[in-house]
Amino acid sequence: MTSGLKVAIVGATGVVGNAFLRVLEQRRFPIRQLFLLASDRSHGQSLSFAEHEYSVTSVASFDWDEHKIDIAFFSAGNDISRRYAPIAREAGCIVIDNSSAFRYDADIPLIVPEVNGDDLSPKKGMIIANPNCSTLQMSLVLAPIYRAAGIKRVIVATYQAVSGAGQGLLDTLRESHSSLSSIHANVIPQIDVLEDNGYSREEMKMLWESRKILRIPDLLLSATAVRVPVENGHSQAVVIETSIPLSESEAYQCLESQRGLTVLKEGWVTPKEVSGQDNVVVSRVRQDLAFGETGLSCWIVGDNLLKGAALNAVQIAERLLDAVNFSFR
Ligand SMILES: NC(=O)c1ccc[n+]([C@@H]2O[C@H](COP(=O)([O-])OP(=O)(O)OC[C@H]3O[C@@H](n4cnc5c(N)ncnc54)[C@H](OP(=O)(O)O)[C@@H]3O)[C@@H](O)[C@H]2O)c1
Repeated sequence: MTSGLKVAIVGATGVVGNAFLRVLEQRRFPIRQLFLLASDRSHGQSLSFAEHEYSVTSVASFDWDEHKIDIAFFSAGNDISRRYAPIAREAGCIVIDNSSAFRYDADIPLIVPEVNGDDLSPKKGMIIANPNCSTLQMSLVLAPIYRAAGIKRVIVATYQAVSGAGQGLLDTLRESHSSLSSIHANVIPQIDVLEDNGYSREEMKMLWESRKILRIPDLLLSATAVRVPVENGHSQAVVIETSIPLSESEAYQCLESQRGLTVLKEGWVTPKEVSGQDNVVVSRVRQDLAFGETGLSCWIVGDNLLKGAALNAVQIAERLLDAVNFSFR
């Protein structure tokens, strides 16, 4: 394509990087030139995209000024984002970052396009943060409930797949000697470091990021984030206390209006079933017994590599292209 964009993926060899390649290809993202970047370890490795082979380059030796990249998707961890995203931005690139390095900066938009896409305004040389995977998926349920009945507080327990921790843990689970690893036939009730208040960083991300995405600065939220021996697909059990009463049927009605969300009225869905699907799925919506008429309980599942990482980031990019009337597809 001669009319497309110059796109870079930083962390292209990782599990999210791989998802980026699939999503960009499936959605026919308008790419004129593609640069795949990772660490020195992967320099020269070959990856395929749209029936072509691409050689991986070390991000450390990549010249952002020379290559004039239009959009870069970063998914190589906080340190790499902190180091190279500002350099890319200075060179005029739009960076969409999967790490948590910039999510809490007041001047960096944190975007779920179907929820707060109107917080986006495109300009050359900017960083946009992609939210934490569980937060992102939960926001598709919280946003319509908030619009209908307000939200006082949220209590959530997550059941997060090992692909959320990267290729290394995924390989460990798949290897024949995985029975020696702590995740085999087990659950681990700590993801990321523990903060001084006893909550893990992953749990605090759900509070900090929900407040920013939903624009509810005083939202109360308590999370327990747990790693489970599921290959792919995050799940969460969520209890929402609303500001005014909301019946089960009213809840269904407003959830059904949310783009990006599939609502299941009968039965339930598992992470295995949503793996590979774009939409987040909510099921088991019911009036909560503890909170009564101002309480709702539900079960949310979504593919963490898609609507949790790569898909959401590509949708952000598509939204930017729409805003500048860049025609494609
Ligand atoms: N997995 C998820 O569901 C998910 C969801 C949301 C956000 N994220 C975020 O996305 C990022 C990547 O996660 P992942 O799950 O894809 O991890 P991963 O499978 O471990 O991949 C890590 C990627 O980062 C690259 N990398 C590591 N150290 C590097 C360095 N010093 N210089 C350049 N590249 C380096 C790796 O390249 P090499 O192969 O060369 O080492 C690889 O491409 C993380 O910030 C994570 O928090 C992940």
